[in-house]
Amino acid sequence: MADLEEAREWLARAASVAALTGAGISAESGVPTFRGAGGLWREYRPEDLATPEAFARDPRLVWEWYDWRRQAIRTAQPNAAHLALVQLERRIPRFTLITQNVDGLHDMAGSGGVLKLHGDIWRMRCTACGAEWPDRCAPLPKLPPHCACGGLARPGVVWFGEPLPDGTMQEAGHAAASAEVFLVIGTSAVVHPAAGLIPYARRAGAKVIEINTERTAASQWVDCALRGPAGEILPRLI
Ligand code: OAD
Repeated sequence: MADLEEAREWLARAASVAALTGAGISAESGVPTFRGAGGLWREYRPEDLATPEAFARDPRLVWEWYDWRRQAIRTAQPNAAHLALVQLERRIPRFTLITQNVDGLHDMAGSGGVLKLHGDIWRMRCTACGAEWPDRCAPLPKLPPHCACGGLARPGVVWFGEPLPDGTMQEAGHAAASAEVFLVIGTSAVVHPAAGLIPYARRAGAKVIEINTERTAASQWVDCALRGPAGEILPRLI
């Protein structure tokens, strides 16, 4: 297993890099993760709430969870890890940032063209007429929120069992397959299809570098595992 110095050399030589981020990259900005310590909201697992079935059964409960997450994210600022990825993007000729996060912190940090596999928590979508609109209000004045047409609004995110936004997975797959270095940052790597990008990149020849405070489901696929908070490790790597 390679160490930080070796990983730095891979990055220094690479012309093509892709990064996959998860909730852990925003942990140091004060955004709760989904799994692990402090990850649960009340007694619910994300798989119990982030589904079309849960929303059909109890839209108010699902919206309470999203309203709680939106409040946690609203005042959050990008941290050193988000900013380090902006630096990397400026340096590497072909750089693709793929995120599972819906918090918008990569955009706020200044990353361009972020591939958002799981949508955007600051967008609403009407379940009746399909209209979409931005909404940064947190807490929301009334739960569940509604569209101007009177239909029930849902968060503009991807739920378990739903397809990813058109074309994003194809673009992410292409970036993973052509990357010389593939960074995996702050994700437990248990949610597919996003997690499948990691072995995919490895099989296509990328050096895979994981940055996480803990061992994960992806650790078996990586060439280098850097253990610690992303806000400390990434600036040292880059
Ligand atoms: P998880 O909550 O599953 O995992 C967060 C990961 O971040 C864990 O592996 C932690 O060890 C790690 N971590 C925590 N703090 C860290 C830090 N400071 N630096 C580095 N790593 C840290 O989050 P995701 O893997 O993003 O999907 O979850 C994937 C998807 O599951 C989410 O996008 C969401 C959720 O359900 C949907 O809602 C569809």
